[in-house]
Amino acid sequence: MDIESFALERWLAEHEHGAAVNLGDSGVRPLEADRFDTDPGRLGYVIPTNGDPDLRATVADRYDRAPDELLFTCGTQEANLLAVLATLDRGDHAVCVTPTYQSLHSLPAAVGEVTRVELAAPDWTLDPDAVADAIEPNTELIVLNNPNNPTGKIHPQEMVDAVYDLAAAADAYLLADEVYRPLAEPDERVEPVAGMGPHGVSTCGLSKGWGLPGLRFGWLAGPEEVVTAAWEWKDYTTISPSAFGQHVGRQAIEREDELLAENRTHVRRNRELVAEFVEEYGLDWLLPAGATGFLTVPEAFESSEAFCRALVEEGVVVAPGETFDRPGYVRVGFGADRATVADGLERMGRVIEDRRSA
Ligand SMILES: Cc1ncc(COP(=O)(O)O)c(C=O)c1O
Repeated sequence: MDIESFALERWLAEHEHGAAVNLGDSGVRPLEADRFDTDPGRLGYVIPTNGDPDLRATVADRYDRAPDELLFTCGTQEANLLAVLATLDRGDHAVCVTPTYQSLHSLPAAVGEVTRVELAAPDWTLDPDAVADAIEPNTELIVLNNPNNPTGKIHPQEMVDAVYDLAAAADAYLLADEVYRPLAEPDERVEPVAGMGPHGVSTCGLSKGWGLPGLRFGWLAGPEEVVTAAWEWKDYTTISPSAFGQHVGRQAIEREDELLAENRTHVRRNRELVAEFVEEYGLDWLLPAGATGFLTVPEAFESSEAFCRALVEEGVVVAPGETFDRPGYVRVGFGADRATVADGLERMGRVIEDRRSA
């Protein structure tokens, strides 16, 4: 099994450490640990290893599913890996909607064959007919990220329904990574696919909406046969979720009304800063749901990577569109502290002005 190098992670590994301003992340500034009880008692494995049954029941309920139709994982990343391993075999085919977080096409491509369906710029619309055209007789999996990273697009309910119906007709699963869903305003949110029927598998976690990436706590929800197969794979990956992650995660889930509202307000305010920046420099973007915007590159730069390298010189890290196979764009994360975002945008503005006046 070959896995492609994770372009975004490699870019961040090269530039993030030591940058004055990091706008390369896609999440919200992390919460302080002292807002929670951080003593889980004895640090054993979580038993049962698929996660605490009561907490599983609480989260599974959101998908109208039973506790055994949900598995706790070490982050959404592990949930996605397990979902792919549980649903795809060698020789199978997957349809992956891109641009997206690289795991969501590179993991399926490591196991089977992948056909990518591209979202259409500038408003990143999903075309269900293109998904239908991409389906093959051996398609077992369709993969969507909703809201989408990097564009911040929310695929509306009727699109998701149409793609779900295509998956059902092909007797395949629709895997939706919904890790940014808690950052969308409640009235904008689309129903999670795991609650839509026997073909839906949802992944999520506490990294983005709750601002707790260091907990490494996430989950996968879906039909029992998928969740059971995922658990069997998990025996070989991380055995159980982290006891510490589950202890703090339980409190974060209990307090989610307060925490999600706080984080959404934070992101909404920062989004206004980016919107002003986009306007001032004549760039283009889709007003995003999460904490990342996919901005067009100023014309004065020959490529998004060239723009991003000039920004690195000025101490700012953002993600070049090339890391999403979309040259011509940059992904700007605006979930950091407000002063950090403002500082980063000011530096970006300087870089653009210097180049325009050169
Ligand atoms: C769409 C998507 N899924 C999963 C992840 C990884 O999330 P976690 O920290 O919960 O493993 C990311 C991180 O950026 C992401 O953007």
